[in-house]
Amino acid sequence: MTTPAIKRASASTVGRAKQARVEQLYSSNVFTNGQAHLYCGDSLEHYAAWETPSVIVSDGGYGVLGFEGDTSDHLDLPHWYEPHIAAWSAAVTTTATLWFWNSEIGWAAVHPILEKHGWRYVSCNVWNKTKAHIAGNVNTATIRHFPVVTEVCAHYVKEPRISGQTLQSWLIQEWKRTGLPLRKANEACGVRDAAVRKYFDKGHLWYFPPPERFQQIANYANEFGDPVGRPYFSRDGQRPLTAAEWARLRTAFRCPHGITNVWERFPLKGKERVKATRASERVAHLNQKPLDLLEMTIQASSEAGDVVWEPFGGLFSASLAATRLGRKAYAAELDPTYFTLGVSRFVAAASGDCSAARSGFEPEI
Ligand SMILES: C[S@@+](CC[C@H](N)C(=O)[O-])C[C@H]1O[C@@H](n2cnc3c(N)ncnc32)[C@H](O)[C@@H]1O
Repeated sequence: MTTPAIKRASASTVGRAKQARVEQLYSSNVFTNGQAHLYCGDSLEHYAAWETPSVIVSDGGYGVLGFEGDTSDHLDLPHWYEPHIAAWSAAVTTTATLWFWNSEIGWAAVHPILEKHGWRYVSCNVWNKTKAHIAGNVNTATIRHFPVVTEVCAHYVKEPRISGQTLQSWLIQEWKRTGLPLRKANEACGVRDAAVRKYFDKGHLWYFPPPERFQQIANYANEFGDPVGRPYFSRDGQRPLTAAEWARLRTAFRCPHGITNVWERFPLKGKERVKATRASERVAHLNQKPLDLLEMTIQASSEAGDVVWEPFGGLFSASLAATRLGRKAYAAELDPTYFTLGVSRFVAAASGDCSAARSGFEPEI
């Protein structure tokens, strides 16, 4: 079921005047270098043909008329995003991570739709662009709020369900079926009380059992549990899941050292910012994201060879970051000018010109 459109006149979607011009549009609607697959068009029409993602980097509507098609306020964003979010949920087969970039209010408006489609909120990261973002541009005599120098990048995961249940409740239910007292789970794992406390907790203190622990629990249950209900901890009713299969149900995350959820990072500047034309100093896209932040999130949540989706390509920053890290990328951009400029970054990177890929991220801790 999709969320009904908000019952009021739709917000305008006419974007701010676009600054970018290209002399010639890219000659095809598709660009690929084997690793990145970039499409000119509506991502909704392409998702079905893309490889299953491990990571999705969403940087779409902000409700600020930031580009042609963006809404003019956050109230229309849930409706704007819902078909995409539904398609992402349908595409994920085991587990995946979503990095959802937006303004604070934009993210708040869309959060219920993400939850509704099975995306579990993990944390909210704040990109603090620092005072450099507003330097010289604030009239304190007229401004009616503190100057905003942040964006958020909310972290979600799509977790698999077994027989319609979350892994947490499935584990609890499977143990219950064995007829064994819960404390025996500690014995299964060879610990005093940690297994019950961590892996069978019914609330937010629940931990995903590491694969070797899962194996111990499943072995014990199948050896000592009520013979009538066997196999236990099985997906297909034929045999228990193996430790390796269990491991694949866990979403990847490796926290880099020294990073918190506040990312102190100057706004894009100088050569890292793609320009509107070769001769111009005007920026090509108002929403270009820093490659270093994108790389950090993609690296933390995927392995080399994994697939990253960038549904709202712009200049394809996430796809560029993904391919620099040895991941595969699938992306789409509606606007042929942005598409052409985005493709040119890959062409430049292939010819050894790294200027579009410089990074200036220096964590402050
Ligand atoms: C916020 S910008 C993304 C900027 C990008 N992260 C970057 O670093 O360049 C959003 C882009 O998504 C594009 N877009 C909006 N809806 C789209 C859709 N359904 N399919 C493909 N692109 C879309 C817009 O044209 C816009 O360029």
